[in-house]
Amino acid sequence: MTKKKPSAAEQRQKELDAMMAKAITAREANVDLISRVKRDPALAKKVRERLCVDLRRVAEIPRHILGPSASRDRYRDLGYYSPVLVRYLIGTWAEFQRQAGIADSLGSKQVERNISKTLRAQQIMEYADANVRPWDDAYSNLDMTSDMVTLQIGSDFHSKFCDPFALRVWFEVMELVQPDGVRYNGDVVDFPSLSRHRQLPGAFAMTLQQECDFAKGLFRETRELLPDADVKLVMGNHDVRMVTALADSAPMFISMDSLKYHELMGLDEHEVGLIARATFLNPSARMRRNDISQNWETLPDAYGRPFYTIVHGFLTGKGSAAKHMARFGTNGTNGHMHNPEQVTMGTLATGVTEWSQTGVMAHPAAVGAGYLPGPAESYGHMTTFNVVRLFPRAGHVQHEQVKIGATMAYFGGWTWEITEEELDARAAMREI
Ligand SMILES: [Fe+2]
Ligand SMILES: [Fe+2]
Repeated sequence: MTKKKPSAAEQRQKELDAMMAKAITAREANVDLISRVKRDPALAKKVRERLCVDLRRVAEIPRHILGPSASRDRYRDLGYYSPVLVRYLIGTWAEFQRQAGIADSLGSKQVERNISKTLRAQQIMEYADANVRPWDDAYSNLDMTSDMVTLQIGSDFHSKFCDPFALRVWFEVMELVQPDGVRYNGDVVDFPSLSRHRQLPGAFAMTLQQECDFAKGLFRETRELLPDADVKLVMGNHDVRMVTALADSAPMFISMDSLKYHELMGLDEHEVGLIARATFLNPSARMRRNDISQNWETLPDAYGRPFYTIVHGFLTGKGSAAKHMARFGTNGTNGHMHNPEQVTMGTLATGVTEWSQTGVMAHPAAVGAGYLPGPAESYGHMTTFNVVRLFPRAGHVQHEQVKIGATMAYFGGWTWEITEEELDARAAMREI
């Protein structure tokens, strides 16, 4: 039998994979450079020159592999140094390109930016129309006229930072409680590679494919435990970020099984719906925030009145739970803040309502490491999720918190103890 000659696409992928692997090794080797240049100004000058040479190298990757680009995203994947080091030594990316002698003139750049913004917005919208929005509210089957509806709601899993102990408890509670519905309330994936946070070397531990496989794995296990439940992903800021990246279908994703969001996430396979009311028209960070603030689910009571709202969260700062509650005026829940909070308020018209902000399903020390200064404990982030009992006829809501601590977890008379492997996995995550 003769060996099949690799196709041009396979060959190109092979070369790209090798380049990326080489870049990861180089970045790892250069991890301590930032602390060294901080101590040594002469070294800083030399490293600045080396950075410029490296950007030119990345910019000149042959067209048959990637085509020319000196963008930050490209450099983040294929550069030998951390973008953090670039920021420290040179400042803005535009300045970096100028220093390396490959920047466009200012006038043409402004025009190009406007063109690409419009084009990108259009592409993202088309992608979302085909691959995301049709799954909005899909597979819904909650009976909001029944006496009691039980939901299990957790937020902020953040894929590779997900706490293994919390995840075990999540599924064991699911098996015990047999909820009617499950809400993955945002930030199920982490997808750091296009974020401003966590650009540190070594932050590439999980590929996009692995992130999707993580989410799909959650859905699969949920469906196995609960064949008839109403399971939804309420899209959060990190989930939306992944959609926009897929819509761009950058060359770095060509190794993916599929570029279709609904397939990658196994939505039909596991009969999972989305809460995806957002427009996804988001070429800028400001507009992206806007999208998330429009994305929520409000369940009615037995008489059709707004009763219980589930939103990933878009109002931050002190009193974030109260702020969300004031905005919706219903009972409800949000995530996003990574610390649990429960508040009540009310009006003559609504009566007293209760809002519960869930903690984080990720391990707080690991997920916060990239962007929070100081010890993680000082932020009060805590691993929790909720079992929520809705009584749509009586208009009654009961939030029951499941709390996962340093070594044990408790819920409704049951306790769990952390295993050695889970402790080790937590320790390993802090080193990412
Ligand atoms: Fe989050
Ligand atoms: Fe979030």
